[in-house]
Amino acid sequence: MPQIPLAIVGCGGMGHRHLFGLAELQRAGLSPFELVAACDPVTDNANSLADEAATLLGKRPTVVANYDEMAALGIAAVDITTTPRFHHTLTVDALQRGWHVMVEKPAGLTVRACNQMRTVARDTGLVVSVAENYRRDPVNRLAKALLDAGAIGTPRFMIHHSGGGSDRMTISVWRHQKDQSGVLLDVGVHYADMMEYFLGEITSVYAQMRLHEPIRYNPAGEGKEPTSNPAGVYGKWQRQMPARFEATADDAVYATLNFASGAVAQYIEDHAMHGQGLWSRQIHGSKGSFDLPNDRSGRPIRMTANGETVDDGRLLDLVPDFRLDEATSALFGGDRLWRYDFPFEQTDRKLLAVEYAEFGEAIAGQHPAEVDIEQGSRSVAVSYALMESGQSGQIVNVADVLAEQIGDYQASINVSLGI
Ligand SMILES: NC(=O)c1ccc[n+]([C@@H]2O[C@H](COP(=O)([O-])OP(=O)(O)OC[C@H]3O[C@@H](n4cnc5c(N)ncnc54)[C@H](O)[C@@H]3O)[C@@H](O)[C@H]2O)c1
Repeated sequence: MPQIPLAIVGCGGMGHRHLFGLAELQRAGLSPFELVAACDPVTDNANSLADEAATLLGKRPTVVANYDEMAALGIAAVDITTTPRFHHTLTVDALQRGWHVMVEKPAGLTVRACNQMRTVARDTGLVVSVAENYRRDPVNRLAKALLDAGAIGTPRFMIHHSGGGSDRMTISVWRHQKDQSGVLLDVGVHYADMMEYFLGEITSVYAQMRLHEPIRYNPAGEGKEPTSNPAGVYGKWQRQMPARFEATADDAVYATLNFASGAVAQYIEDHAMHGQGLWSRQIHGSKGSFDLPNDRSGRPIRMTANGETVDDGRLLDLVPDFRLDEATSALFGGDRLWRYDFPFEQTDRKLLAVEYAEFGEAIAGQHPAEVDIEQGSRSVAVSYALMESGQSGQIVNVADVLAEQIGDYQASINVSLGI
């Protein structure tokens, strides 16, 4: 098949992790892409990615600092893995140049940024795929199939609780700055996507919000082991970051969410919890319940229904037609999985490989992107609905946030973006 000339734009932690995903897909013989450019204004980062690519893909991409330098390379698609502040301008610019886009979450830094992306995506008709990896986890695919098959009846109530982090830096300084994508957006969009994937549209929210830890600590900044370093790629940058800094982004939200279906969720996202860590994702329905594992853990679903708890391969008996897609099956080792067991780094790259496979299929016109800019923008709107509610003390409709009728919390961020 002819290869799609691709550039990775943003060669930091996630840019490198995406490269590992692309290499994983190529190893499986399923990559429709040829990586022709590594783009980052920080030349060291672009060179680092290009060097890794030479080893992993067998060909070194051209190092560039911006789109203008890429224009002569015959690019057809870009994979935008920059910090969130640049997602909307880089996406709009790429689409206007006729390039398809995969963009990391959060789709845009604010709802207004997302709305600019939505408009241009609609006008150009090109693919915009938001790189949401959690829903692609094979265990989450099985949970969705079981839900759709009515295994626990009609979903009524969801618990979505996550907590930890204490006063440590989460991966990078920018994740604690309100105008750069604080943790409640950075992580919240993943969970918003998962909740809507399972239960459909969230219509309104009521939240309490806090900034518990206004000073954050980065152990790597004083030569100690990093405490938050997913896939092991961030250490070299974390050593350059300050050991202690001021956090401006809120770090905890406690909320009730209403779904269009009539279901209700209780949501806790607390990035400042000391002591025991918190994880609970449960769905309770009219016939039973699911206790769902953490994303990318590979642990099984626990289903309780008809007085019995099942957490093994018998779950598959309830969904005889359940099949994982070609790339997921090839990479995870089977098309009907109920668990898997890989080190985190491998699971991470397999899921990113699946994202690339699906992006390639969407470019080839086989199907629309699963998480398109509409869905990606909804996750941003749900996350900000929580923050808008936390600030105003009012119940907030997600539709009003999406339509920019409610946006006080985001106003200063939009000003900083000049939009
Ligand atoms: N899906 C996931 O599991 C997951 C995990 C981590 C990060 N992310 C997302 O990936 C994105 C990047 O996060 P990260 O952890 O890699 O951040 P990072 O700070 O490690 O890297 C960002 C890179 O973008 C570069 N950059 C900034 N402006 C640019 C521009 N205009 N053009 C090209 N490059 C530019 C920076 O120089 C840096 O190299 C964020 O949107 C983040 O939310 C997703």
